[in-house]
Formats: sequence, C-alpha cells, structure tokens
Amino acid sequence: TWTPESFIESSIQSLRKKIGSEKVVLGLSGGVDSTVAAVLLSEAIGDQLYCIFVNNGLLRKNEYHHVLHQYRDMGLNVKGVDASDRFLDALAGISDPEQKRKVIGRVFIEVFDEEALTIEDVTFLAQGTIYPDVIESASVAGPSATIKSHHNVGGLPEVMKLKVIEPLRMLFKDEVRKVGTALGIPDELLGRHPFPGPGLAIRILGEVTREKIALVQEADYIFIKGLKEEGLYDKVWQAGVVLLNSKSVGVMGDERTYEHAIVLRAVHSTDGMTADWVHLPYDFLAKISNHIINRVNGINRVVYDISSKPPATIEWE
Ligand code: XMP
Repeated sequence: TWTPESFIESSIQSLRKKIGSEKVVLGLSGGVDSTVAAVLLSEAIGDQLYCIFVNNGLLRKNEYHHVLHQYRDMGLNVKGVDASDRFLDALAGISDPEQKRKVIGRVFIEVFDEEALTIEDVTFLAQGTIYPDVIESASVAGPSATIKSHHNVGGLPEVMKLKVIEPLRMLFKDEVRKVGTALGIPDELLGRHPFPGPGLAIRILGEVTREKIALVQEADYIFIKGLKEEGLYDKVWQAGVVLLNSKSVGVMGDERTYEHAIVLRAVHSTDGMTADWVHLPYDFLAKISNHIINRVNGINRVVYDISSKPPATIEWE
C-alpha cells in the first residue's frame, strides 16, 4: 500500500541514483507542488538543489518576503529574484487578459533562464508537475508549467535543454499534501489556496499599474486575514479580490467621491474545473466591506460575486 513515508523513501533513493553529484535547478512558486518537490529533492541531494523564487510584483501583499523566509527556514537552498519592475514595465499599456498571460510567461522564462545560467554546470530542471498536470495539459500552470507551454516560442531557452525531473508526477493533490506533511512542511504552506501564475495581473481588469496592484493587495490582505480570523479560510477552496476597471460614485462627508469598486470572490471546488460561490455569512461580508472601504484609499464600493463555474470562471480574466 502507498504511504507518504514509503513514497519519500523510494523517491529519495531513485533521485540520488538518477542525479548522482549533478546539479538541479527548480523554480519555486509559493505553491504546494513546487514546495513539496523542492523539499523532497533537498532531502535527497541537499544543496545540489538550487531553487529560484521570482518576485513578479504580482504576488499578494508581503508574500515575496514571507514565503522566501519560510523557504529558508525549511533549509532550502533558494535564491530570491526581485524582478517586479521588469514584469510591470513589460505589462504597461496591456489590457487584454491573454496578452497579459503571454507577457508574464515570457518575462518569467527570461528571468528564470538568466538565473539558471548563473549556476555552473547545472544539468537537471526539476518541476512540481503532478498527475493531473500530466493527464490534463491545459491545467493550472505554475512557473514550471509556464516553461513547458512557452518553450516553442522564439529561441529555445537554455533551461529547456536541461534534463527534466518530475518527482511528483504520479501523485494526486491530496497525496502531495500528505507527502508535504510527512516532510515536515508547515500546514500554513500546505493549506494555502491556489493562486494563479499571472497573479494579481488577472485580478486587475484592464491595464495593470503599480497603483492598482497596491489597492488589490490591501483589499485582498483584509479579506484573507478576515477569513483566517473567522476560521473560514480552510473551508474555502480559493478566495481573492478583483479590481474592476470602472469607477463608481460614492459620498464621504459632504463630498462626492468617484473611486474604484472591488469584488470579493470565494469559491468551493475540488479541482478548479467547476466551482460554487461560497455562502459567506452576511455579518462577515459586512465587516470586510466596512474594513476595506474605511482603510483602503481609492475604494468606495465592495460587491460580492455570486456566480458559479460554469458558466462563470473563478478568475475574472
Ligand atoms: P478559472 O478562472 O479558469 O480558474 O475558473 C481555474 C483555476 O485556475 C487558476 N488560473 C490560473 N492559474 N495560470 C495559472 O497558473 C493562469 O493563467 C490561470 N488562470 C486561472 C485559477 O486561479 C483557479 O484556481
């Protein structure tokens, strides 16, 4: 029978055998799969594993530093690369959702490729691919999957010439979590909601600007913190906020305001393919709404998305 412990033990042996004294590079995304793959590899080959965590400037508030510290605490050999300006400059003037994804994917590969090249004599590229990714190539794409889907665009990036290692490719998500727990990865990290590779760029409708990112980060922070404080975070599959690309009229004191509206989104799902909106308590929604409107300058209206997938999608772009 399959147990996380037996999986870990046999994986460590086969990884050591396969890799020998060679070097491996791996892109960490902050998500469960790449983290578990990294810790497993690190158990097997220690600092022959070189992890790269790229800040694309589109992560949640404080996320880059917080997650980077967690990675270091877990003993991973990780290099943080803050490429925010490169991503945000490349996104300037672009409002089409698929264009945004393309630009982010392209810049990610450029940055990752450059960093991987600084590791002398690296021979393997490790990815956190899991079984559903293998059978469903159109599945949720992390940084590693991004590499695959873009590898035939333009010249072949150097990392694509590396031999690929996918230690989790036979596992389902729940098995990945069990392996993660057995590896001692904190529950906080294993229980994180899924987060899209293009990050907040697809939660800002229309053009992405630094100012809008700051608004979304603040509102998202309040919403997610509230969910955690009320014990709701683990009952929800995914949650976040979406910034609309239109403003609405409001009133503050005697003044008329004309500011952004933000959408709260929370869904139940098992695999992201279908989803139901979560019936969050009215009192909770009221509290979050007040909090966001009072604290986040530039937002004067909060609405709740009550659409399920299909026909709506989880993200708005
Ligand atoms: P949708 O919006 O298609 O989202 O219902 C389903 C799941 O996929 C995530 N998502 C993405 N993840 N790159 C990713 O890595 C993407 O371009 C992307 N688009 C959507 C979404 O967050 C949800 O979990």
